[in-house]
Amino acid sequence: MTKIAIVYFSNFKGNTETLAKAVQRGAEAVPGTEVTLIHTDAVDEHWLTLHAADAIIFGSPTYIGSVAAKFKEFIEKLAGEVWLQRLWVNKIAGGFTVSAGRGGDKLACLQQLAIFAAQMGMIWVPMRITGGNYSTQGSEADLNRMAGYLGVMAQANIDEPPELAPPPSDIQTAELHGNHIAHVARQFAHGRKALAADYDTYADQAPGSASAPLSLPELLEQP
Ligand SMILES: Cc1cc2nc3c(=O)[nH]c(=O)nc-3n(C[C@H](O)[C@H](O)[C@H](O)COP(=O)(O)O)c2cc1C
Repeated sequence: MTKIAIVYFSNFKGNTETLAKAVQRGAEAVPGTEVTLIHTDAVDEHWLTLHAADAIIFGSPTYIGSVAAKFKEFIEKLAGEVWLQRLWVNKIAGGFTVSAGRGGDKLACLQQLAIFAAQMGMIWVPMRITGGNYSTQGSEADLNRMAGYLGVMAQANIDEPPELAPPPSDIQTAELHGNHIAHVARQFAHGRKALAADYDTYADQAPGSASAPLSLPELLEQP
């Protein structure tokens, strides 16, 4: 099985959760893929799943042109043991965000997710299709209507319920991206085994414990 975890935060309208489920559907359509959906509030119950994953997909709403504070809190839990011991090196990574504005400064959010993955030594997967809605022939119904390449850029009108926003085009874009990441993760997981590097660890030999990773201060206190 290719193991994929989706870690997301969603609070205001549930829009990021809608996207997370779409990413999950897309990933699960790839044969042999097992997906675990993890809200950041529940992350402490899932450390072994994360350590064992072939791919981790990150989702945060754009709050004040940034990842949400609660998502950053999750990121900073990785700034000790996971970062220093390189526990997540060579895991596949990708991301998605949603904002109310069509721009909304959401590129900054995706950039933060990609930099975060890079700090952990992960391999970031971009969008596989070109941007939509580029011309008079385009429309809001186009896939990737925000024309983002780093990951899924969705948009949800602030006065609509989660059943209506984000619109179907964004949900389908999230499904497509989850599907693409699952394909890349499957190809890479098989390739890693066939062409092993001596520094590499694999999903079925995951290091790390079930409890929250040691923080940097905790690591520095150790003899
Ligand atoms: C604290 C806060 C800050 C926000 N900042 C932005 C922003 O910078 N740009 C934007 O376009 N929308 C912003 N929004 C709107 C959210 O990005 C949007 O409603 C999103 O779909 C919420 O996702 P969620 O329902 O998963 O929390 C903000 C919303 C909140 C609650």
